[in-house]
Amino acid sequence: MTTETQIQEKPVPETTFPWERGTYDPPPAYAWLREHEPVRRVVLHDGTPAWLVTRYNDVRSILADPRVSSNQNLPGFPQIELVPRPSEEESTFLNMDAPRHTLFRRLISKHFIVKKLEVMRPRIQALVDEHIDHIIDRSEPFDFVEEIALPVPSTVIAWLLGVPPSDHPFFNRETEALLAASLGTEEAIERATEAYANINDYVDRLIAEREKLDDPGDDILGDLVRASREGQIERRDVLNTAWLLLVAGHDTTANMIGLGMLTLLEHPDQLAQLQAEPALIPDAIEELLRYLTVVHLIILRIATEDIEIGGVTIPAGEGIIPLNFAANRDDGHFPDAAKFDIRRRPRDHVAFGYGVHQCIGQALARIELQIVFETLLRRIPNVRLATDPADIQFKSHASINGIARLPVAL
Ligand code: HEM
Repeated sequence: MTTETQIQEKPVPETTFPWERGTYDPPPAYAWLREHEPVRRVVLHDGTPAWLVTRYNDVRSILADPRVSSNQNLPGFPQIELVPRPSEEESTFLNMDAPRHTLFRRLISKHFIVKKLEVMRPRIQALVDEHIDHIIDRSEPFDFVEEIALPVPSTVIAWLLGVPPSDHPFFNRETEALLAASLGTEEAIERATEAYANINDYVDRLIAEREKLDDPGDDILGDLVRASREGQIERRDVLNTAWLLLVAGHDTTANMIGLGMLTLLEHPDQLAQLQAEPALIPDAIEELLRYLTVVHLIILRIATEDIEIGGVTIPAGEGIIPLNFAANRDDGHFPDAAKFDIRRRPRDHVAFGYGVHQCIGQALARIELQIVFETLLRRIPNVRLATDPADIQFKSHASINGIARLPVAL
């Protein structure tokens, strides 16, 4: 029989990994592991083993280690989602190693540098204002996720991919339907499958139009089409990269906006400080990124050689899950890490990962989040929850955390 004390001493579930997280917080077992067994072997739902890494320094060290691979086609690569992993044909550079990974980063990184993105600020500001104009006179509660959190990042991705404005309603509708798959209902999954096919056909047509031009353009799609013309990459890679940007740039930022808003509403003292001192917004965004770590089960690796870390040896060929959520809640690095504190300035959090695969879109995400929150606090300072917080459903089983709906009122 298990006693209460034993449970407290070793609260690591016997069930397969991943374990359910709380609302804002990681599964309690992460804290225990960090303290007692910072590198621990667990079993995933398909029976494969993988090593959890929970301490901040160890997570960074694994992510900077050239002996780990992101190639999901290697046998033993950890699989978290229950959906089948993409085929080798559908691989994106998220799952490639050098030198191929380096080639893709080189091809598109110039579109993600701060200087280039700063030029987009006025355009993003106008977009956010336009969405706030739609809701500012509402006397009835509305869903913040539907009105703000989903459409803003979706439109920004549409710009990046060169989707003409007349097609934005189609693009936003379909990407939203795609993301709704995480709700898990049969109806949502069926609609998401249809949306996947619609977006795929659409992006394929966008690429085909560029291919007909002598000069395919100087944006991301243009650079990728040119690289495929020169034989550096395959045509299929152009489509796959467009998909990666769409998936990596939308759900992530949308969940940060939705969950970030909820976090501020649930911490009225912090919200009041931010309203009194808007210059704190960039710091508050970094703290939201650290505290929420919405992209918490995406960073997966496999050891290509034996790796000694945290007192154990991870054998070559076994999966590694560097838990950035556990690292971001490591008291050894962020004192009192479970506390949300907008004045903390956690500059070196790992919400965007670390090492060669560190998020290429992080500067863009930061600009979007800063504009969204600055504008919300200024234009709708009285926004309040229009539901009991206990009724808010967290996507607690998804690899990217968030909330599907956030009823608010003005
Ligand atoms: C708040 C929003 C975001 C968060 C929290 C986030 C988080 C992450 C994380 C943790 C990784 C590392 C994956 C790994 O190491 O295996 C990553 C990679 C990536 N992200 Fe983001 N991301 C965000 C927004 C964006 C945006 C806006 C874009 C682009 C429009 C983007 C594009 C990518 C791409 C392409 C990769 C793969 C990089 C590589 O493998 O070299 N992300 N992101």
